[in-house]
Amino acid sequence: MQPITHRYRRNRTNEAMRRLVRETTLSTGDLIYPMFVVEGLGVKREISTMPGNYHLSIDMLLRECEMLAGLGIPAVNLFGYCEDKDEKGTGAYDDQGLIQRAVRALRQEIPELYLQTDIALDPYTTTGHDGLVVGDEIVNDETVDVLCRMAVSHAAAGVHMVSPSDMMDGRIGAIRKALDAEGFEKVSIMSYAAKYASSFYGPFRGALDSAPRSGDKKTYQMDPANVREAVKEVLLDIEEGADVVMVKPALAYLDVIHEVRRHIQVPLAAYHVSGEYGMILAAAEKGWVDKERAMLEATLAIKRAGADMVLTYFAPELARYLADHPM
Ligand code: PBG
Repeated sequence: MQPITHRYRRNRTNEAMRRLVRETTLSTGDLIYPMFVVEGLGVKREISTMPGNYHLSIDMLLRECEMLAGLGIPAVNLFGYCEDKDEKGTGAYDDQGLIQRAVRALRQEIPELYLQTDIALDPYTTTGHDGLVVGDEIVNDETVDVLCRMAVSHAAAGVHMVSPSDMMDGRIGAIRKALDAEGFEKVSIMSYAAKYASSFYGPFRGALDSAPRSGDKKTYQMDPANVREAVKEVLLDIEEGADVVMVKPALAYLDVIHEVRRHIQVPLAAYHVSGEYGMILAAAEKGWVDKERAMLEATLAIKRAGADMVLTYFAPELARYLADHPM
């Protein structure tokens, strides 16, 4: 046998050495936890399509968020379950709406927690679309006006960051302008800049009863085949004023995260979405993968691809794990 001159295994000798040579790490500070708020009192109901996640009334949301802040999770991203959906999604910008009340309560009770709210109409419209529907079209500019009202009402309630997930054209610039005009220049925007028309949103739509009643979202969400287009979308949103941009989903789009990262200087988020979460859970339930290891590997991969922060339903579990096993 030839003498072996390179022995890379020396750098993998034990966990201590592996930590020293680790190129990417995961910390609780990277995590954003998406949460689902419902009307009522004392409600904490596991979401059937997303085991381990809950529908929470505002009082229970406060308790849960106290726990999350205690774990060191920096931010939550709130989605509201709207009970009176209508064609125009008017619940979205009701100053006494569920999300607006939740934000006020959280700002008051847990000031250290960074609050993000989702901006899009799909939980509020009977059509299940992110925008207003006229005939069989999801109309752009009229929707943007409503999204601006929604963002301003969340800002008035005290949210730190609004997070438009709708993929209408021009909404980041319009929302920035609307916020500034109302004196909310300190409120940040995280844009779902490259959001794909994905099959992996199913469990989330189950959680909010927000699946489109007809048609699909392919005229506004991106074609999974495209990556150059993602770069264009992201650069435009930054130009329009996004403070943070997002790629979504994450695990099936690691190449998109990587490519986008090379083109931008602003922070990049990635959303490990409900269907991606569900795949790990379901496989673990069958005994086919180890849930904890799969969760860690998937989240680390999203960071390795280039994300600075990860929206993930594993956030509480990851935080608990990382408290005992810092990377
Ligand atoms: C819609 C929205 C969706 C998600 C976040 N915001 C679903 C959709 O576009 O239909 C999905 C999140 C997930 O699947 O975890 N505005």
